[in-house]
Amino acid sequence: MSDSSILVTGATGKTGSRVAANLMQRGFDVRAVSRKSAVRFDWDDASTWQAALQGVRAVYIVHPGLGFDGATEQVGDFARAAAAAGVKKAVLASTPDDGSEFSQAMRAAEHHIVNAGLDLTSLRLRWFFQNFSEDFLLQSVRSGELRLPAGSGKEAFVDADDIAEVAVAALTDERHNGRQYDLTGPCLLSFAEVAQEITSGAQHPLSYVSLDPATYVAEQVAQQVPEEWAYSFSVLYQDIANNKLAQVSGDVEAVLGKPARDFSTFVSAMGKAGVWR
Ligand SMILES: NC(=O)c1ccc[n+]([C@@H]2O[C@H](COP(=O)([O-])OP(=O)(O)OC[C@H]3O[C@@H](n4cnc5c(N)ncnc54)[C@H](OP(=O)(O)O)[C@@H]3O)[C@@H](O)[C@H]2O)c1
Repeated sequence: MSDSSILVTGATGKTGSRVAANLMQRGFDVRAVSRKSAVRFDWDDASTWQAALQGVRAVYIVHPGLGFDGATEQVGDFARAAAAAGVKKAVLASTPDDGSEFSQAMRAAEHHIVNAGLDLTSLRLRWFFQNFSEDFLLQSVRSGELRLPAGSGKEAFVDADDIAEVAVAALTDERHNGRQYDLTGPCLLSFAEVAQEITSGAQHPLSYVSLDPATYVAEQVAQQVPEEWAYSFSVLYQDIANNKLAQVSGDVEAVLGKPARDFSTFVSAMGKAGVWR
């Protein structure tokens, strides 16, 4: 407990909502913000930052555009405003090093935070289980077909509940200052294996169709997805196809002292809750 607050950005999103709820359950004073909160917070409007930062000692940073034009500088400006407002610590939703321009932008954002004088814990995240239940893959799962350019590559999908628990540990315990955690699930899965798990574990028939990248982009554009986004996603799927980050880390267990949640348990819970009906 403390007399100052913990600021959670992206608080209506997959990880921020869980971080805020977890902190509140533990009795911390939490300011949960997004563009929809009472204290409005907008990355694109720096005039909203000051009110959000008042009386705050630590901040969970989710920037949905991180890795894209302008977002790195916004995070740097925000980190400097935070340090000036008395914030000591930041935990960043980030991504692993894979040598891409995208991950270089992530590293640059991390440097900005450290250079602003904040203690940083960087959470280098893999694809979330919840992409299938709360986000951009939900409709495809409901439709019974995942049509993606990911070949037979594998990804170390991770549960957002584990990400949130690690974020809470990092926000509230200074032993995590200066650390980088590679947050993965306990095993590697291809999209064909994901489809199989959902078919058998949630009794929801799902197939995976491996597309070539150009067909994927054309199909997305036909569904009104902006071409630039469709192209960016196709690059991410090709990284999976190429097994670019096909490695499991033990960092969730090292931080939490218990194994990372597995995909089968998630699938069974989502099946019972009826999210894919
Ligand atoms: N999904 C994955 O598999 C994955 C994997 C690796 C890394 N990541 C990283 O994780 C981050 C996303 O975290 P998440 O999945 O928890 O978030 P999310 O579910 O995508 O939600 C985005 C959050 O950001 C808020 N937001 C959007 N635009 C905003 C703006 N202009 N100003 C202020 N807030 C804004 C949204 O709230 P409002 O709409 O209410 O404002 C929402 O709370 C991204 O940086 C992404 O690169 C994701």
